[in-house]
Amino acid sequence: MAQLRLDKLLANRTPHSRSDIKSILKKGAVQVDGVTECDGSRKIDPDVQQVTLYGKKLVGQSHVCFLVNKPQGYICATEDRMHRTVLELLPRELRVKGLFPAGRLDVDSTGLVLLTDDGDLAHRMLAPKSHVPKYYLVRLAKPCTPADAARLAEGLTLGDGTQCLPAQAKPLPVKGDYALICLHEGKYHQVKRMFAALSNHVETLHRVAVGGMILPPELASGGYVAVLHKDVENMLKSGNFDAIYERIMTDFSSYSINEVHEV
Ligand code: URA
Repeated sequence: MAQLRLDKLLANRTPHSRSDIKSILKKGAVQVDGVTECDGSRKIDPDVQQVTLYGKKLVGQSHVCFLVNKPQGYICATEDRMHRTVLELLPRELRVKGLFPAGRLDVDSTGLVLLTDDGDLAHRMLAPKSHVPKYYLVRLAKPCTPADAARLAEGLTLGDGTQCLPAQAKPLPVKGDYALICLHEGKYHQVKRMFAALSNHVETLHRVAVGGMILPPELASGGYVAVLHKDVENMLKSGNFDAIYERIMTDFSSYSINEVHEV
């Protein structure tokens, strides 16, 4: 990995702000390869040098993990000739070798995407038998009715005969026909195809949570944040539909869904 400033590394891989990091460094709480380092401008290579904060190795030093708020027009791939990739949402110095998006959102979908170089983590998150729930806030052409929610809960059969696992869906009592839908699997264009099977149409789709991890509402479209180890474990948990629904309702206006265009 390219060398980067110690204060930047600390800011990316800990919850501390840049100004907190200044005083943390001054206090002598940071060591590089066992030697106290107070100079935040020092360039280091996190793949080679070990950085500790209060004696603890920085989370993600061996593997990196970032959460991005994907805007429309970006593709969930490591390279593409037509579109910008979600990797380009990270500054160049954080794009470590082997980094890839764990899971896919369509080019016109927005929201939570995890970028990591940890293949095991991605497998635990994406393996069909893990059933890690993914939550999508959708704006629909028509309201999601109780009858639609009941059919989704039974396990819908798509137009081509594909059988879906039971999914939870609930309309949001806000202006426009928004609904939160939770899937425990990830078939191609699944949310769009499920609503199409209900004679509806997904106008916009924003992934708001994976497992117990909610996209921070203050994270602007195109923004990124380092994911801490405890948050990764949280992401692999089953999540709680009602709790996530309440959070989405509370933070509804903060989500940048108003910036997205029609699908
Ligand atoms: N389902 C879809 O149809 N599109 C996505 O991007 C994600 C889930």
